[in-house]
Amino acid sequence: MNSESLKNLILDRRTVHNYNNKPIADNIIKDATECFLHAPNHHHTRPWKLLNSSQDQKATLAEFAIELKSKKKNLSDVEKTAVRTKYTNPSHLIIVTQIKCNDERQAKEDYAAIACALMNMKLFLWSKDIGTKWSSGSITSSDKTYELFNIDKSKLEIVGFLWAGYFDRKPISPKKEKPDEIWL
Ligand SMILES: Cc1cc2nc3c(=O)[nH]c(=O)nc-3n(C[C@H](O)[C@H](O)[C@H](O)COP(=O)(O)O)c2cc1C
Repeated sequence: MNSESLKNLILDRRTVHNYNNKPIADNIIKDATECFLHAPNHHHTRPWKLLNSSQDQKATLAEFAIELKSKKKNLSDVEKTAVRTKYTNPSHLIIVTQIKCNDERQAKEDYAAIACALMNMKLFLWSKDIGTKWSSGSITSSDKTYELFNIDKSKLEIVGFLWAGYFDRKPISPKKEKPDEIWL
């Protein structure tokens, strides 16, 4: 790949919110995981563990999401169905966790490494016409989510969900700053 096509891949990638239900082949997930693992990671702390959701777990998450959303406003049946589809359609709903450590500086660097790792994975998947979304909404850190995935909160922190799947329409780009705007 030349630098121009790498730049095009980076600029073309978008966060995808709506997925169809086409599954991602296991070998693509394996390659994406290899890309994840080649992220820079200070002191090679290997601060990550990933869990994939089963269809049942996705359906349960959808019910949690409906419960959380219903606290803010009454959801119609149509809106509830939309939440269920949103959770169950994407091929993969990956629970991204960070191994806890007592050193504040290391924890920050570990989180940075996970961000780099996810970006590697997201870009690789995008090159395969697969969309992703990193989400960090309240459901990701709810006790119920820890229980559903049997995650020991004293050892692992959920730092987000990675949604991944095929999609029918590419989202438009949010407005990005111009390169000259950020150089002081
Ligand atoms: C740490 C982090 C947390 C995010 N959490 C959410 C989220 O909870 N919900 C969501 O819709 N998008 C979430 N996003 C995606 C961003 O909103 C998205 O990247 C941004 O809108 C820019 O769009 P783009 O990725 O297409 O450039 C998150 C992104 C990051 C890096």
